[in-house]
Amino acid sequence: MTAPAPDHNSDASRISDEKILVLDFGSQYAQLIARRVREQNVYCEIVRHDISVERIAAHNPRGIILSGGPSSVYEEGAPQCDPGLFAMGIPVLGICYGMQLICQAFGGQVKNTSQREYGHAKISITPNEDLFGGLPSETDVWMSHGDQVTNVTESFESLASTSTCPIAAMRHKELPLYAMQFHPEVTHTPLGFQILRNFVISVCQCEGRWKLHDFAQQTIAEIRERVGGNRVICGLSGGVDSAVVAALLYQAIGPQLSCILVDNGLLRKQEAESVIAEFTKHFKTDLHVVAAKDDFLKELAGITEPQEKRRRIGYQFVECFKAEARKIKDAKFLAQGTLYPDVIESGAALDGPAATIKLHHNVGGLPKELGFELIEPLRDLFKDEVRKLGLELGLPEDLVWRHPFPGPGLAVRCLSDVTEEKLSVLREADSIVVSEIKAAGLYRQTSQAFAVLLPVQSVGVMGDARTYENAVAVRCVNTDDFMTATWSYLPYEVLARISTRIINEVKGVNRVCYDISTKPPATIEWE
Ligand code: XMP
Repeated sequence: MTAPAPDHNSDASRISDEKILVLDFGSQYAQLIARRVREQNVYCEIVRHDISVERIAAHNPRGIILSGGPSSVYEEGAPQCDPGLFAMGIPVLGICYGMQLICQAFGGQVKNTSQREYGHAKISITPNEDLFGGLPSETDVWMSHGDQVTNVTESFESLASTSTCPIAAMRHKELPLYAMQFHPEVTHTPLGFQILRNFVISVCQCEGRWKLHDFAQQTIAEIRERVGGNRVICGLSGGVDSAVVAALLYQAIGPQLSCILVDNGLLRKQEAESVIAEFTKHFKTDLHVVAAKDDFLKELAGITEPQEKRRRIGYQFVECFKAEARKIKDAKFLAQGTLYPDVIESGAALDGPAATIKLHHNVGGLPKELGFELIEPLRDLFKDEVRKLGLELGLPEDLVWRHPFPGPGLAVRCLSDVTEEKLSVLREADSIVVSEIKAAGLYRQTSQAFAVLLPVQSVGVMGDARTYENAVAVRCVNTDDFMTATWSYLPYEVLARISTRIINEVKGVNRVCYDISTKPPATIEWE
């Protein structure tokens, strides 16, 4: 079990006190809404849709956003909010389902439309100063709904319309209630950012106090106070989250921090070296590198079944980590890079929505019952905020923007059984893929790029000789959430360079293929 989030609401001086609440009605975009609000430098939390008015009052939000959702408000059992929230005097913005809910609560009519509206639409805006202030009279928006508000009571006025949706946005004439049928949070609504800004800054009168620099300073002070004179252990994986946690702790408690890097022999080329350099030269931490390559390879010898590989790697990792942690005397705390989406999706947030059932990989993670108290300084942050924080703390761009890498490492990209020789072929091929994507300026535009060594040999010809060597697959994907992904449309020239370089430079490979499968039905990794 993850520890519940501390209730910060009692401390009036926190920068997260100026906050907007997003009530989650099951929208795929709830987290995106929260990120967009935070981009306005205003702290935003996602809470369950049926949160009571008393709990809302305890959060003391400047504004409330009702998210979209897959249900229809007129269906039995459709998710509702506490109707008392409309009378709290706190500005409310309803988006899609949220709009329909407001309409229903005030006696208006919501109906299923004959054609489901999904995609781009153009709205005509009735001039108004608050929600649409500064916008042109017409703008593109993104619609995704089957129901729409067809009739509102006299207490509302329409703020915008489309050719098929006469009330595309509305406002209550006396109460601070606003609503829109379209989605301002997605990039397909080009001026959505401005609309959300108008709501947060003009309507809710937020000042924009959520700044990562201040968050860092506040968190550092809190860590110092909590840790006192004790020692904290932090596992480093080579990824951005654990590096940011370590950098934050280093600034808070310096010599009381001990880091552990389990070098399992399954990392990418130069990965262990760059982490070691960063955390011994720049941040001069007490770094324990566990040279465990042989143990892992022994454990993996002859194993071909993907789940069995993962199980063995997970087990070995925990054993290595525990053994090293035992050597560190007086350690009381374990620091982990848990992020806000993990907290939300696991149902562990205070007042947060119920757990979402998602297929989670947890290989490369630690069991919760190691006997330490947990410190999770990133549990309020989204990934993009963690990256910004990393830069703020002085971590190099290269580490901060690194693509995610699975806990079981290259073992799940070396199909069939894993050997040292195969790993070194894969490591070279992988390094070429990444360096060519970087050289083409595409690294930041892609989400994950890597090579997979296939257990397939094919015939080739090199010079005058016949070859019979391995094939490598190149995988490069674009995704926001890693739950769905599309393959990246890399330019042919980049693919050509990758292929030529791998075949010329990596001994043992004579064929390169590009993986053009989306997720689903394929996964990002091959095993
Ligand atoms: P799939 O292959 O399921 O991967 O589409 C989705 C994302 O998760 C990463 N991944 C893992 N991360 N331990 C991890 O920490 C694992 O066992 C693991 N397996 C996959 C994968 O790299 C991708 O980013």
